[in-house]
Amino acid sequence: MLALANKIAIVTGASSGIGRATAKLFAEEGARIVVSARRQAELDTLVAEISDADGTAVALAGDVRDEAYAKALVDLAVENFGGLDIAFNNAGAVGLMAPLPDMMPATWHETMDINLTSAFLGAKYQIPAMLERGVGSLIFTSSFVGYTAGMPGMAAYAAAKAGLIGLTQVLAAEYGPKGLRVNALLPGGTDTPGATTTTPEARAFVEGIHALKRMAQPEEIARSALYLASDASSFTTGTALFADGGVSINRT
Ligand SMILES: NC(=O)c1ccc[n+]([C@@H]2O[C@H](COP(=O)([O-])OP(=O)(O)OC[C@H]3O[C@@H](n4cnc5c(N)ncnc54)[C@H](OP(=O)(O)O)[C@@H]3O)[C@@H](O)[C@H]2O)c1
Repeated sequence: MLALANKIAIVTGASSGIGRATAKLFAEEGARIVVSARRQAELDTLVAEISDADGTAVALAGDVRDEAYAKALVDLAVENFGGLDIAFNNAGAVGLMAPLPDMMPATWHETMDINLTSAFLGAKYQIPAMLERGVGSLIFTSSFVGYTAGMPGMAAYAAAKAGLIGLTQVLAAEYGPKGLRVNALLPGGTDTPGATTTTPEARAFVEGIHALKRMAQPEEIARSALYLASDASSFTTGTALFADGGVSINRT
């Protein structure tokens, strides 16, 4: 039996990196998926790849900061597939890095909107759809940044990612009695276009701060998302799950 047989999922940030790898894995495991990101062409390629592998996915391009788009993703899952069981709220971006006194309020707001307000907007429409079926798994992609590590220049990103953990805890308590599970996933440095490792020096630094002395491949983070999405984690809710190569505990 496939881990996500008969499940219906939304995956945001699916045009690239962790979200793309997770959408493919969820589809391989039997879920029917709505894939989300701004870039239509990348989503179309992903849907074609999933379909070539006998999976089922539909794409809707848009911006996760837009409330109407958050609603439209859920409507598409309900209309196309009949409901919603899993939401991997994964879209995010580091945003412009700067020392705090130099950070413009617009930069702060943009980073908060992409990483945190998007999660609020997603959950606002995903929860009622999941309650219709009396079951559901919401997952928010947080980060070790802001939870176990303070990285200079990343104040807005860290605040947003830490905010996701508070959101996770409240929603887990609020909707646990109604059958929903809510968890945060905390990747370590992961080899994606969104990573901040743009120079060999930056990459060596990031690899070195992990106990495993390397970055993750997005497929490794996808397997942790699958765990949280599936019944393998049926008694896990309100957690901040590390898939971080030991960056949180490493002192070497
Ligand atoms: N890579 C790491 O080291 C690392 C570590 C910890 C946590 N994370 C988190 O993991 C998540 C995935 O990141 P990644 O590393 O896979 O980065 P990525 O390859 O850059 O992917 C980011 C995804 O988010 C989407 N996205 C960004 N802004 C969006 C917006 N306003 N509206 C809709 N979609 C938007 C992008 O799609 P479009 O550009 O097509 O819109 C893309 O699909 C993020 O939340 C990130 O903060 C990453």
